[in-house]
Amino acid sequence: MSTETTRESRIAPDTLHAYVRAIWTHAGSTPREAELVADHLVMANLSGHDSHGVGMIPRYMASLADNELKLNTHAEIVRDVGAVLTIDGRKGFGQVVAHEAMEHGIERAKKLGVCAVGLRNAHHIGRIGHWAEQCAAAGLVSFHFVNVAGDPLVAPFGGIDRRFGTNPFCAAFPREGNAPIVLDFATAGIAYGKTRVAYNKGVKVAPGYLIDHAGVPTIEPKVMHEAPFGSLTAMGAHKGYGLAAMCEIFGGALSGGFTTHADTLDTTNAIINCMTSVIVDPNAFDAPNAQAEADAFVQWVKASPLAAGTDRIMVPGEPEQARRADLNVNGIPIDPTTWQQIRAAAGQSGMPAAAIEEFVQALK
Ligand SMILES: NC(=O)c1ccc[n+]([C@@H]2O[C@H](COP(=O)([O-])OP(=O)(O)OC[C@H]3O[C@@H](n4cnc5c(N)ncnc54)[C@H](O)[C@@H]3O)[C@@H](O)[C@H]2O)c1
Repeated sequence: MSTETTRESRIAPDTLHAYVRAIWTHAGSTPREAELVADHLVMANLSGHDSHGVGMIPRYMASLADNELKLNTHAEIVRDVGAVLTIDGRKGFGQVVAHEAMEHGIERAKKLGVCAVGLRNAHHIGRIGHWAEQCAAAGLVSFHFVNVAGDPLVAPFGGIDRRFGTNPFCAAFPREGNAPIVLDFATAGIAYGKTRVAYNKGVKVAPGYLIDHAGVPTIEPKVMHEAPFGSLTAMGAHKGYGLAAMCEIFGGALSGGFTTHADTLDTTNAIINCMTSVIVDPNAFDAPNAQAEADAFVQWVKASPLAAGTDRIMVPGEPEQARRADLNVNGIPIDPTTWQQIRAAAGQSGMPAAAIEEFVQALK
């Protein structure tokens, strides 16, 4: 095995998890923080969302160097009115402060039936489905509205320059005896990280997702990574744009955080997320048939005759479950550019070169 990787390689999830833990403990995180970050990033890769997986490590390291990302910082409840919690993430690792915010919300929703949690000023909270899955694992339904505060990448419907972030929306429904239904997407046509993955791989993106600096549609991911910068477009024309706007306002304004505008533009390497989550105990409804009704609907839609080129009908969350089953066995693919960037970040963390080489050797 050469130490220089020139092709896509595969790495066992456990090995990658250990590598991520080692990087962040060398950077100064407690073992628990490093573990939560590794849990989240590796699960994003396992779910097929490389845009929010270990490829984020170099950006986080740059944010740490900018003194933006604050290691070993915990979520602080700044207002508690029972069923509504306002929580400040204080620029701590999103993988830590969102986990803690969800723990608080889950505890409260179990007690009261519902809890709205406004989490503000969190450093990047990554794949939002992770948080919905945390709620679903506790038997709870949840809805999440998120803004990427002060970091515009997406043009408004009818506009040609970047005015707001890729603002994800997520909703999940836990199922008895089955994986939860988890809808989790960026309100841009594609997540920004997917343009990074395409750029690193030297491939184009599908038509319809990008415009260049003059507003002309393009398939070149470089418009997001090299000046003059273009923009992503919102999914679903005016409807996706409208949902992005509600994510911005619920996520950024209602949480007591901030929205994206001229006074809040952030040019550092930080990615700041604000998220308003509504967590609901389904048992608080008078709905004894809720599981059966959801199951009946799932079976009903799956019985639709298949369109050409489709081998099965899935419900949201199923593609991620299928990828986990595959990648847990076959290893997580990492492209050479991303691997080199992670390796450089590992060096910046203070990890000794010999230890880095051990992980490089683990690539298949
Ligand atoms: N933290 C942030 O600032 C931020 C910003 C943007 C996006 N994100 C994250 O990026 C990730 C990727 O977002 P995306 O927009 O690229 O996701 P995507 O386009 O891959 O869509 C994912 C959603 O669609 C569902 N889905 C996909 N194919 C399906 C099919 N054939 N049938 C039924 N359902 C199907 C998936 O289960 C999932 O719920 C998400 O996890 C999101 O939370 C985070």
